[in-house]
Amino acid sequence: MPARAYYGRNPSTFQLSIIMTHWPHETAITVFDAVTSTNDTILEAGATDAPEGTTHIAHCQTRGRGRAERQWWSPPGGGLWMSTLLRPRVAPSTWSGISLVVGSAACRALQSLGVEATTLYWPNDLQVGDKKIGGILCEVRSRGARAWISVGIGINIHFDGTSKPDQESPPSDVRARATSMTECGAPTSTTQLEVAEAVLERLWPAYERFQDGKSIPELVGTDLAHVGETVDVRTGLQSWKGIVRGLGERGELLIEPTEGEPPESLSTTDGVIALTGGEVVYGNKSTGETK
Ligand code: BTN
Repeated sequence: MPARAYYGRNPSTFQLSIIMTHWPHETAITVFDAVTSTNDTILEAGATDAPEGTTHIAHCQTRGRGRAERQWWSPPGGGLWMSTLLRPRVAPSTWSGISLVVGSAACRALQSLGVEATTLYWPNDLQVGDKKIGGILCEVRSRGARAWISVGIGINIHFDGTSKPDQESPPSDVRARATSMTECGAPTSTTQLEVAEAVLERLWPAYERFQDGKSIPELVGTDLAHVGETVDVRTGLQSWKGIVRGLGERGELLIEPTEGEPPESLSTTDGVIALTGGEVVYGNKSTGETK
């Protein structure tokens, strides 16, 4: 069932409540004009009594961030910059898989909006061909026995001046490796809220199935790119090659080493290494990084 959205305005933000028929409570979504990072505001909300599902979307982020302390270019109206609060009831030792579940939901949302070629590059890049269209950043905080996650989702919607005349151009390093929905064809929707809705209506059921015990490999399914292909891996100072065999139960990337010397510290089962960190190079493009 599609989500229904209700809008109302206050001076600097406007509130959107989405009633998801498959989600047990009404989820409050606030859209801000500008914040440092929606992950900051959601991590702060998590320290209060904000309910799971609280979601912040920003028209722009002044200090958007990606993994490995990279900046995340988040110009006004250029994309979906959104974070959602999770308070998983399952054991924290399983939480590392959540970003893959979210990445898979976002991947399917993009496909449903007409960007059919979107795939999920481990650990959680959304790619079209060799270009990045989005990414996921999950950050965890705790206080006493309570812990919460901000699930940050960035999706590039517009990338140049063609769709929005006032649009800022991306820095050259971003442009070299990034793409956007409008650059990838003719998406059926290009508004922040409709893209958000497409992601959220897939995220919540996937997250529920994850908490009910469905495994990460089952949830991600065929969204994972490069299965059966050879990749270069850098772990610490060592570089080696291997064939991607899929995902482990906790979202590890399973790689069968074929060349070079993987560190002995990486445990091997039946000749396959379960990678939890390190840098994976697909073709000549690196997307994973040290966690
Ligand atoms: C990555 O690919 O490195 C992850 C990028 C995550 C970007 C999103 S945009 C919304 C949220 N707020 C941030 O500052 N980062 C995430």
